[in-house]
Amino acid sequence: MKELIDPSNLPQHIAVIMDGNGRWAKRQGAARVFGHRNAIKAVREVTEGCAELGVKFLTLYAFSTENWNRPKYEVDALMTLLVHTIRGEIKTLMNNNVRLTTIGKTESLPTDCQHELAEAIRETAGNTGLTLVLALSYSGRWEILEAARQIATEVRDGRLATSDIDETLFSHYLSTDGIPDPELMIRTSGEMRISNFMLWQLAYSELYMPDVLWPDFRRKHLYEAILNYQQRERRFGKISEQLVK
Ligand code: IPE
Ligand code: IPE
Ligand code: MG
Repeated sequence: MKELIDPSNLPQHIAVIMDGNGRWAKRQGAARVFGHRNAIKAVREVTEGCAELGVKFLTLYAFSTENWNRPKYEVDALMTLLVHTIRGEIKTLMNNNVRLTTIGKTESLPTDCQHELAEAIRETAGNTGLTLVLALSYSGRWEILEAARQIATEVRDGRLATSDIDETLFSHYLSTDGIPDPELMIRTSGEMRISNFMLWQLAYSELYMPDVLWPDFRRKHLYEAILNYQQRERRFGKISEQLVK
């Protein structure tokens, strides 16, 4: 299937809402946390798959602002898993020339998580292939409010005029500054919603929502998503005849 992908029409940035871990576990009579533990293979597969294809950015929504409202034991288990996963996956990142970065309010993560992340970001900083963006304690509204606050401060202090505020300027104040908007957004588990993910950046993204639960997601599902994307006509408000083929 990989050979069917047109390398000249690859999304530069793929964003993924990794959903369905709890249901995956429940289906086999296990605790939700078992689903989270079994999600790491899917993370590795999409990361390696994207790196091999030459995709430039992959954003994985790993923990939302609203996920802090889950039962404490589940939040604790997710944080512990995060620490172990980052530690365990650095080798895979290095082998695949992947640079790690994060978006979100990472200051609210437990300190051992923050240290582990900082270490992985530092170690992979020189890698030049795929950039893997982990969205942690992230939400679209949080990010837009942060940008609004910063811009308001700049205007108050006379460093910006209100007439300077346009789409380009605004996007510089978002946590994705320097990262192109995702052309393709995948949400697994068949759920048809955005759940506060990249509200600004998804304005013109192609959405792909397969029924597969995240722990079952493999390279072939990534290829299916990209092939589906390559069949879409992206019109950006224009009509078909205006598009350069
Ligand atoms: C996604 O799976 C993982 C996180 C949100 C951290 P869920 O835990 O949301 O699994 P479901 O949606 O309940 O099946
Ligand atoms: C979205 O999934 C957040 C992540 C995958 C990290 P949720 O499972 O939290 O979303 P809802 O609650 O079903 O909308
Ligand atoms: Mg869910």
